Formats: sequence, structure tokens, C-alpha cells
Amino acid sequence: MTLAGRRVLVTGGSGGIGAAVVAALVREGAQVALHYGRRREAAVAVAARLGGAPVLVAANLAEVGAGSALVEQAAEALGGLDGVVNNAGIFVPAPPTAPWAQWHEVWAETLQVNLVAAADITRAALPHFQRQRRGGLVYVASRAAFRGDDPEYLAYAASKGGMVALARSVARGYGRDNVVAMTVAPGFVATRMAQQVASADGVAKVVADIPLGQMAEPEDVAEAVAFLLSDRARHLNGATLDINGGSYVR
Ligand SMILES: NC(=O)c1ccc[n+]([C@@H]2O[C@H](COP(=O)([O-])OP(=O)(O)OC[C@H]3O[C@@H](n4cnc5c(N)ncnc54)[C@H](OP(=O)(O)O)[C@@H]3O)[C@@H](O)[C@H]2O)c1
Repeated sequence: MTLAGRRVLVTGGSGGIGAAVVAALVREGAQVALHYGRRREAAVAVAARLGGAPVLVAANLAEVGAGSALVEQAAEALGGLDGVVNNAGIFVPAPPTAPWAQWHEVWAETLQVNLVAAADITRAALPHFQRQRRGGLVYVASRAAFRGDDPEYLAYAASKGGMVALARSVARGYGRDNVVAMTVAPGFVATRMAQQVASADGVAKVVADIPLGQMAEPEDVAEAVAFLLSDRARHLNGATLDINGGSYVR
């Protein structure tokens, strides 16, 4: 087990990629604080499938300041903190033709949940890591950070681009404290988020530009995250792993 004894907060663990990450980390021996937003029942079910191993922590990351309180809640529940997976995120359309009020609302919420909350969580986690001179952060960004996204999802792509810059800056700034930060950049992953696009555009269109001919599974991303948190990956500090089946090669 590569993560034995590690205490890790995973945001957005109530479903999709986050739930798979929680399972992978528990399998590798980590103690996990499973964060959820609205879906308490789903979070309880994920924890139950893992024998009740993860502790549950709740926070609405759309609320300013919720991220820092969440870190302290997780650290208290776990007796300390060695790692964070910033995974929670939203994918909300705002066509450039939408009324200005709607556009501003989507931009504000998207930046808050996808970027500012991750920054707050990072800031709050750093003192825990610095005290013990050890820590790892993994950010679940997106292919959209590099390739861009459709006009309806400008805010989403911008938030994920910001997340990549955040992770790289943390890697540069805190490596000397033995704190590392890496990013994964998935293309389409078979979760309810991708389902949103598949329902609108059709699955065939979604997979058309994926050379492997299928979306990734949440477990494909989870395996990469578990690896990045392990000691074997420490020299990947600052790196991004693309997980997109070859749909965007850069
Ligand atoms: N699926 C894809 O194709 C894909 C591709 C690239 C990147 N990603 C990224 O992967 C991450 C996970 O996405 P997913 O596909 O697993 O989607 P998902 O199934 O919709 O899960 C999203 C998670 O984020 C949490 N969340 C959303 N808004 C929140 C809020 N205001 N406060 C607290 N938690 C909140 C949700 O918690 P509750 O449900 O409990 O509220 C849920 O656990 C996201 O950052 C996403 O951008 C996904």
C-alpha cells in the first residue's frame, strides 16, 4: 500500500471521479475525509461501500470562506492532514448571448467553486503541511484548461486554466517545504457531468474525437491521483497528467 498512514481530504467525494478517488486512496491505505456538498446520502453510500472507512465532511463550496473551514474540519477529524485532492467542480453553461445577469451569476459561481474554493483549501492546508514538512496536493482540472471549451463553457475553461496556474505556483513556491502539487487534466469521463453533454449532443458526438473510442472511467482518473499522491511521484511536482484517450495531445 503506497499511501499507508496518509490523511487526505478529497473534495466532491459524493460521486463521479471523487468517489473513485476516495476508493483508490482507501485501497492504498490512506485515511480519507470524504467531502460532499448537497448529496449527503450519496456520500454515506460511498463510505458504506468502503466499510465506513472514510469520515464524512460537508461544505457548500459556493459559499465564500467555506473551503478554509472545511480543511480545519477534515484535519480535526483525521488528526492532521498530509494531502488534499481538489476535485469538486461544476460545469454550468452560460452562452455569450445569455442575459448579462445570468452570465455574471454563472461566472461568479464557477470561479468560486472551481477555483477560489480550491485556492482557499490550498491556503488553509499549507500550514498543516509546512509544520510536518510534508504534503501533497492534486488538482482535478480539465482538458479544457489547455484546449479550451465550447462558447457556452468559457467560464468553466477559464476556471480550470486558473486551477492549473494555481497548482504550478504552489509547486514552485512550496517544494522547498517538501510540499508538492500536481494536476490531472481529464477529457470526457463517464460521470453525470459528462452525461450533461452526452444528453445534449449525443454520445457518438462526444466520443467521435477520442481515438480510444470511449470516455475514460472515473477509476482511470483515480489511479492517476493515487499515484501522484504517492512517494513514487514526488518528482512530478508541478506536472500535469493528461487523461483524455488521445483526444487532445499537446
Ligand atoms: N466528467 C468529466 O468529463 C470531467 C472532465 C474533466 C474534468 N472534470 C472535473 O472532475 C471533477 C469531478 O467531476 P465529476 O465528473 O465527478 O462530476 P460530478 O459527478 O458532478 O461530481 C461533482 C462533485 O463536486 C461536488 N460539488 C459541486 N458543487 C459543489 C459545491 N457548491 N459545494 C460542494 N461540493 C460541490 C459535488 O458534490 P455534491 O453532489 O455532494 O453536491 C460532487 O461530489 C470536477 O472538478 C470536474 O470539473 C470532469
